[in-house]
Amino acid sequence: MTSKALLAATALVAITLSLPAAAAELTVGFSQIGSESGWRAAETSVSKSEAAKRKVTLKIADAQQKQENQIKAIRSFIAQGVDAIFLAPVVSSGWDAVLKEAKEAKIPVVLLDRDIDPSGKELYLTAVTSDSVHEGAVAGEWLAKAVAGKACNVVELQGTVGASVATNRKKGFDSVVAKNANLKVVRSQTGDFTRAKGKEVMESFIKAEGGGKTICAVYAHNDDMMVGAIQAMKEAGLKPGKDILTVSIDAVPDIFKAIAAGEANATVELTPNMAGPALDAIMAFKAKGTVPPKWIQTESKLYTAADDPQKIYDSKKGLGY
Ligand code: AHR
Repeated sequence: MTSKALLAATALVAITLSLPAAAAELTVGFSQIGSESGWRAAETSVSKSEAAKRKVTLKIADAQQKQENQIKAIRSFIAQGVDAIFLAPVVSSGWDAVLKEAKEAKIPVVLLDRDIDPSGKELYLTAVTSDSVHEGAVAGEWLAKAVAGKACNVVELQGTVGASVATNRKKGFDSVVAKNANLKVVRSQTGDFTRAKGKEVMESFIKAEGGGKTICAVYAHNDDMMVGAIQAMKEAGLKPGKDILTVSIDAVPDIFKAIAAGEANATVELTPNMAGPALDAIMAFKAKGTVPPKWIQTESKLYTAADDPQKIYDSKKGLGY
């Protein structure tokens, strides 16, 4: 190489090294829970497209609903030296040790869609989540308004035991029940956020409640469980949405189909785009050291039959749900 060429090459290396991190390509490891629901599938798909838009390499590890797999994935991301780790924690406890390892390796962690116990607060950079207590309260307020003071026995399908969103969605709904003496949660059990379990648990509720005659409403912590419950109600000869009111969370296309058909009544939207704000936060942190707020809150919006459910179904169906 001539000395001129050598100089040019050295200058190029120097320029490349001095580029801000956002312009250099980032690699993010995402420990995803699994594919328990339509919402989760959409979150995975939207995360891929949001990363591609920003030219970020996103490595997704599917934990198949197991915390031990998430811990293994985080350790593997640390060993690979990724620039950041996204974590959708299946349950809220048991993260301190592995997140300390990430902190020691100076790899920032961002929580997506679920929270961890307060003991871990110092171990992550930011959390992109909805206010899941508020989601439960929005669902409860809708029901209180819909029954307008009439006595109403509610059955509840809870999400995964130990998941922050299950604990919080219950808490929010219960806070409304506590203020409305006419509302009573008569049965409450986990359906693990899946359609199959939602159906199975609803079948047992119907059996235990005189073929469903003593049930006024179903509250499900996600739409997938509600879709399963709707099936159970129909198979038992009941008219979901009429004989038994429904309110759930997520706003997946299938619940809009059910609302359009008069078989469901209300849903509270959880955006599947948690990765977009998380990527923006990480890119600004890496490029300029900008520390994001500890909580980046996403919106929770109520939808009913008044919101043109067919149109919403059409607009959502291409998003990977
Ligand atoms: O953490 C978000 C919840 O996880 C969604 O509401 C549910 O569908 C998913 O399984």
